[in-house]
Order: sequence, then C-alpha cells, then structure tokens
Amino acid sequence: MGWLDGKVALVIGGGSGIGRGVVDTFVQEGASVAVLEINPQKVSSLQGLGASVKPVQGDATVYEDNERAVGQTIDAFGRLDILVVCVGVWDYFADLPNIPAGKISSAFDELFAVNVKSNLLSAKAALPELLKTEGSIVLTVSNSGFYPAGGGPLYVASKFAVRGLITELAYELAPKIRVNGVAPGGTITDLAGLKSLEQHHMSMAAVPNLPDIMRSTTPLQVVGTPEDHAWAYVYLASKERSRTVTGTIIHSDGGMGVRGVGKVAGLLQD
Ligand SMILES: NC(=O)c1ccc[n+]([C@@H]2O[C@H](COP(=O)([O-])OP(=O)(O)OC[C@H]3O[C@@H](n4cnc5c(N)ncnc54)[C@H](O)[C@@H]3O)[C@@H](O)[C@H]2O)c1
Repeated sequence: MGWLDGKVALVIGGGSGIGRGVVDTFVQEGASVAVLEINPQKVSSLQGLGASVKPVQGDATVYEDNERAVGQTIDAFGRLDILVVCVGVWDYFADLPNIPAGKISSAFDELFAVNVKSNLLSAKAALPELLKTEGSIVLTVSNSGFYPAGGGPLYVASKFAVRGLITELAYELAPKIRVNGVAPGGTITDLAGLKSLEQHHMSMAAVPNLPDIMRSTTPLQVVGTPEDHAWAYVYLASKERSRTVTGTIIHSDGGMGVRGVGKVAGLLQD
C-alpha cells in the first residue's frame, strides 16, 4: 500500500530536478499527478509516463495558467488533495557589489516572480479545490531560506519570502488546509539562471567542484538527490501521517544547521 493511494496532486515545476523527483515518488506511492511546467520538452517527457500523470504546459507566474492547470487536474482526476510548488530560478551567487546597477531592478522582478509570486498564484488558484478535500500545500524553500551564501541577496531573500508565505498561509488556511515546506540543500539539477543577468546559458553541473563543496560543508557529508528530498514531500502530503503538522519546514540538507565551527562534523578526523 502506498502512502498516497487514491490522492491527487498538482506539482508546479515538475518537469525536472526536485519537482520531477516528487512526481515520480508520488506516482510510486499511489497518487495521480498533474504537472504545470513551462518547458515544452519537459512536458513531452512527462507525456510518456502513463495515465497517472497529466502534464500541462504553462507559466506559473501567470495566474490564468495556474487556474487552467487546476481545471485540467479536476478534468483528469476529479479532485485535488495536494499542491506542491517546485519552480525556481537561481542567481548563481550574484552578490550586491557585482550586480550591475542597471540590471538589479529587472533581476529582482524576474527572480521574485518565479520564486515567490508563483507560489502565491498557485495557492490562490488551487484554494477552492483544496478546501473541498481539506488538502495540503507543500512549498519548496532551500538552505538559502535559513543561511547566507547559497546564492546572492536576490535568491536568499526570495527563499526567506517563501518561509513567510508558509507561516502566513498555514495560519490563514487552518484548520482546513495544512501548509508546510521542504528546504533542500545543494542538489545538482537544471536550476536555471537569470535572463536579466545573462545567466541563462549557465548550468549547475558546470560550476567547478560544486558537489565536493556541497559534500565537504555539510555534517552528513552528502549531496542530496531529488529522490532524497522527495520523501519529505511525501510525508507532508500524507494526511494520515502528518495531520498534526502545519507551518513546518523539513530540512533535507545534510545538517547545515548543526555545522561545527572548528570542524564541520564531530566524528570527522582532524
Ligand atoms: N538545486 C538546488 O541546489 C536547490 C537547493 C535548494 C532549493 N532548490 C529549489 O528547488 C526548486 C526546484 O529546483 P531544481 O533545482 O529542481 O531546478 P529545476 O530547474 O530542475 O526545476 C524547476 C522546474 O520548474 C520549471 N519552471 C521554471 N520556471 C517556471 C515557470 N515560470 N512556470 C512553470 N514551470 C517553471 C523548470 O522548467 C523546471 O522543470 C526551486 O524552488 C529551487 O530554488 C534547489
């Protein structure tokens, strides 16, 4: 028996990376899953997954696209129990001294539209259906929602803002809808850079030594995969197992919050 048997989820940004890990794990756990995804190639790759996955091409920063995705979820599967938001863009560590003054305003608007506004629009569009099922929302934070230097000020501030949405929405939507988050640590994915900072050609996989840096700076000495993080989403989405949990964020980051000062982890050799 799966932890999500008979449940219906909508995953925003489920075409690759952590969102795709969530889609695959939710299906494995018995859910039917609709996906709102902007990239047509990723939409095509989701189309091959069979009857339990319904891809919808669209932009999560546009309210009408979120509304259409909710409508197509209901048409395909008849209900909506779980909204997961996994869209995001990164700023590739662009720090304040180095962001060109002429580009900072457009970079802020681009990054906050994808990383923050999309969460609010998706939650608004899904709200009527989630109220009917007394369902739940899971948003994607990051280690950058808690600690500095996982990006520049634009990315870090956007992830603190997602924490703010979780806190406020968990209050506003209780007692009917639970609202929680997952904060993954560094994960090698397709996470895109900002067009306004000409970073769209950049890839995480090409950042030198990134997996080694991620591993060596976490107490558990691990680099998480999308599948590792996906189980936190499954737990938060499973009403039977997490019905007392709201306003919480699960850290899936190798223990960044317990990193030592003298040495990263207690049992490491000096
Ligand atoms: N990769 C990491 O190290 C890491 C760490 C912590 C948190 N995160 C967060 O995890 C989330 C997922 O990122 P990822 O690393 O899996 O990257 P990813 O690029 O593989 O996944 C994001 C998905 O969202 C889609 N998308 C982007 N903008 C969209 C839009 N406007 N409308 C619809 N779909 C859109 C992309 O095409 C992609 O399929 C993001 O919120 C990111 O900030 C990533």
